[in-house]
Amino acid sequence: MRYVELRSDTMTRPTPTMRKAMAEAEVGDDVFGEDPTVNRLETMAAERLGKAAALFVPSGTMANLISQMVHCGRGEEMILGSLAHSFYYEQGGSAAVASIHPRTVPNQPDGKLSLNELEAAIRSDNIHFPRTRMIALENTHNLCGGVPLEPAYLRAVGDIARGHGIRLHIDGARLFNAAAALGVPARQLAGEADSISFCLSKGLAAPVGSLVCGSSDFIQEARRARKVLGGGMRQAGILAAAGVVALNEMVDRLAEDHANARRLAEGLADISGLVIDPGRYRTNIVYFDVVKSGLSAAELVAALQKEGVRMLASGTHTLRAVTHYEVTAVDIDFTLKAMTNVLR
Ligand SMILES: Cc1ncc(COP(=O)(O)O)c(C=O)c1O
Repeated sequence: MRYVELRSDTMTRPTPTMRKAMAEAEVGDDVFGEDPTVNRLETMAAERLGKAAALFVPSGTMANLISQMVHCGRGEEMILGSLAHSFYYEQGGSAAVASIHPRTVPNQPDGKLSLNELEAAIRSDNIHFPRTRMIALENTHNLCGGVPLEPAYLRAVGDIARGHGIRLHIDGARLFNAAAALGVPARQLAGEADSISFCLSKGLAAPVGSLVCGSSDFIQEARRARKVLGGGMRQAGILAAAGVVALNEMVDRLAEDHANARRLAEGLADISGLVIDPGRYRTNIVYFDVVKSGLSAAELVAALQKEGVRMLASGTHTLRAVTHYEVTAVDIDFTLKAMTNVLR
């Protein structure tokens, strides 16, 4: 049975061009810096984001942890949103692995942190306090519905960070989705960041991998941190080859995923029993509330699966659907029909 796969954009399978590029990739030992395909991907990523250097890492989680480890020492503090992926979904790795103290500021529904609350959370010099070393933002913001953070807000946060002599990291797992939604080049969303990561393995459809980008000094330290975390990958050019295709071929089509997500959100808004504000969703992630349907999220997910549609129960009464290149407008219409059938 074919399913319309809406659980996550991480479900995307490599394209035929990626598979061919992987099979034919020129490789070497990347821990020795000798994999030409990894080196090419890192150069492309750094250029795309306007940074001096980049590092290929296995996952978005490792990209975040490496950045935290480079910017913060033991017992030092990073400030991030209460709904940040790296606070919420990464096993507390900053504390568990790197002894970094996370301090949260509430995420507003638009994915932002209030500038006043953010600045107030930065510690003064006091023997009782940990030292604040880093602020982390997320763009697009996953748990806030894939909202993009625009350049003016990033500039305001960058000013605060610089004013206090602390670093700004951006978890840009879906940075190219943000750029597509805002109609700006990705590098315009990276300018304020001392470090910025993005994932190849989500909407860009590569099987594995993320890039962390920053200054040459930052990347030199990041390379050390990757090694201690076990992320040195030898003939990783096999994977990087798919990443090169992802950057060349999959970025310019992300607007299609956003149009499909909007089509889905608007269709769901017309189905009785579901609550959604379709205007909120500007990229490829859609959340909606099912409490009025009389079904739990898990029950609705099970019923949809029988109709050939897969979504994720993101809460007891909340579902998540994420569009990507393997989901077409026809699939969205099929999904809306399936939802109507299930709730009838
Ligand atoms: C915003 C964000 N950051 C980081 C990650 C972690 O990426 P990975 O699953 O590659 O570790 C995710 C994964 O969904 C994410 O949505």
